[in-house]
Amino acid sequence: MSHYPALRLRRTRVAPWSRALHAETVLTPADLIWPLFVTAGDGEEPIASLPGVSRWPVAGIVDRAREAVALGIPAVALFPNTPEHLRSHSGAEATNADNLMCTAIRAIKDAVPDLGVLTDVALDPYTAHGHDGLVDDRGYVLNDATAEVLIEQALVQARAGADIVAPSDMMDGRVGLIRSALEVAGHHNVQIMAYAAKYASAFYGPFRDAVGSRGRLKGDKKTYQMDPANAEEALREVAADLDEGADSVMVKPGLAYLDIVRRVKERFEVPVFAYSVSGEYAMIEAAAAAGAGDRDALVLETLMAFKRAGCAGVLTYHAPLAARLLG
Ligand code: PBG
Repeated sequence: MSHYPALRLRRTRVAPWSRALHAETVLTPADLIWPLFVTAGDGEEPIASLPGVSRWPVAGIVDRAREAVALGIPAVALFPNTPEHLRSHSGAEATNADNLMCTAIRAIKDAVPDLGVLTDVALDPYTAHGHDGLVDDRGYVLNDATAEVLIEQALVQARAGADIVAPSDMMDGRVGLIRSALEVAGHHNVQIMAYAAKYASAFYGPFRDAVGSRGRLKGDKKTYQMDPANAEEALREVAADLDEGADSVMVKPGLAYLDIVRRVKERFEVPVFAYSVSGEYAMIEAAAAAGAGDRDALVLETLMAFKRAGCAGVLTYHAPLAARLLG
């Protein structure tokens, strides 16, 4: 009697229709959040370390917002490149209701009200020293004093029309403070997506070029962002942010931290997002430019990995490319 394999796992892989039928994970443009950089300048400004990504003046940002809607991308995330003369030790421009960020939010909400707008709550694009908060005379980032400013920053963004405020500063206790302030001000439906597990990472370099903070950053962010060695601590960060009222949580960077995504998802069963950060984008672009891989395939495979790990969605600079490929 001839012997047959008890299990032929290749049987369901035999043709595209069957592979489609058996796919366990789906990736669609609705899984993507597109980060955009706003400039006060009057034209497109390409970012050398992020090939294919530019800063746009407000009018250009509105064009990108329309493009997002046309591609089926549900939300954009905004980051400003604050003009030099408006950066200061205290980062006061962050709470100016007419700053570049708020102007861009209003312009998008006027033009395409149905597009979700996510805003970054942190001081680094506004401070002369490039840190996410207020620093004392020894350069230490002060927690509670910073949180007070972040509350005001979140409020001006909510007033301008932000749908999701996303504190990326890693100060302790800020989610609860921002939630209470939003409630008191009547912004009951403004969501908080907490950058809950944000690591002190070498993958943020091109972003710091994009918002103009790289050259100015004094020291590093290791007293507030997490140590890449830690995973249990990420679970504590997530628990704290959820307890304080976060609607969703983010893990950042993405690719090197998919174990964290999975552990958070399994432990808390809440919407988890990952930020596939600037250095990850640059890595794929460099690989493609060097002929080491096919850009489109690399992008779709990595985005699928985020979904498989448990993400509800992914912030990625490849959002328009991926949406086009999936559309
Ligand atoms: C800072 C912030 C950073 C990013 C998003 N918000 C950089 C940092 O913490 O230094 C990085 C995003 C990216 O690299 O794409 N508030």
